[in-house]
Amino acid sequence: MQDSKNLPIGVFDSGLGGLTVAREIMRNLPMEQIVYFGDTARVPYGSKSRQTIRRYSRQIVRFLKTQEIKAIVVACNTATALAMEAIREEAEGIPVIGVVEPGARVACQESRKGRIGVIATRATIGSNVYSEAIHAIRPEAQVISKACPLLVPLVEEGWLHDKITDEIILRYLDEVLEYGVDTLILGCTHYPLLRSEIRRLVGDGVRLINPAYETAVGLKRLLEEHHLENGTPRRAGEPYPYRFFVSDEAERFAGFANSVLPVDVASARIVQIEEF
Ligand code: DGL
Repeated sequence: MQDSKNLPIGVFDSGLGGLTVAREIMRNLPMEQIVYFGDTARVPYGSKSRQTIRRYSRQIVRFLKTQEIKAIVVACNTATALAMEAIREEAEGIPVIGVVEPGARVACQESRKGRIGVIATRATIGSNVYSEAIHAIRPEAQVISKACPLLVPLVEEGWLHDKITDEIILRYLDEVLEYGVDTLILGCTHYPLLRSEIRRLVGDGVRLINPAYETAVGLKRLLEEHHLENGTPRRAGEPYPYRFFVSDEAERFAGFANSVLPVDVASARIVQIEEF
């Protein structure tokens, strides 16, 4: 039987955005293998109901389990916010980490005044999970949350350095900045790709929290706790141990992946996810 330490980590998202989390895992845990699933046929999750997001997430976990994984990373803020319980239940004891808690924890540590802003999809903001996670750690914190639904399509369109995107970011952040936040959580997988724009627009006085990076750090801890870290380095010349699956538009996915990831993605395989 294969040693569990050598098994891959299952990482999933509603589509392309979770690649920002996969990227941080590749950079920070380079010995780990990854099986990534992007639900490109059903994205976005950010405008869907809790019930639907739970059903989709359960199907994805059932698919990931067929790939013999040792841990699951819910690389989607919306799925983490609305479906974590269902995901854990479906995972049947496989360790699971989402992106909300690691981001909230670091925001609490880093914020000097305890005035924290959260930007995310409508579903994530509506669920209130970031605010609850922050208050569980730092009860006196003052949290202002803002849904920014237009930012996901802008990133997917590749309009990262664009006047229109700047104006939309400013319009969304106006109220958040007026509130006097000193820390801002980028609570959606796509927003780290706008990080330098957001940094320029909010100025140096606001600390930006990237849950993707914090999740990779949290994953390392989770693997250690469960004695599941892979200690075998990739040998020179061996292919990168990353496999990609999507529910639609495999070519577009590979193109986007190649613009985000530090490795080449030749292709992604299509999975009929409704069958799981
Ligand atoms: N991955 C989603 C998130 O982090 C953003 C895209 C979507 O709405 O599905 O919330």
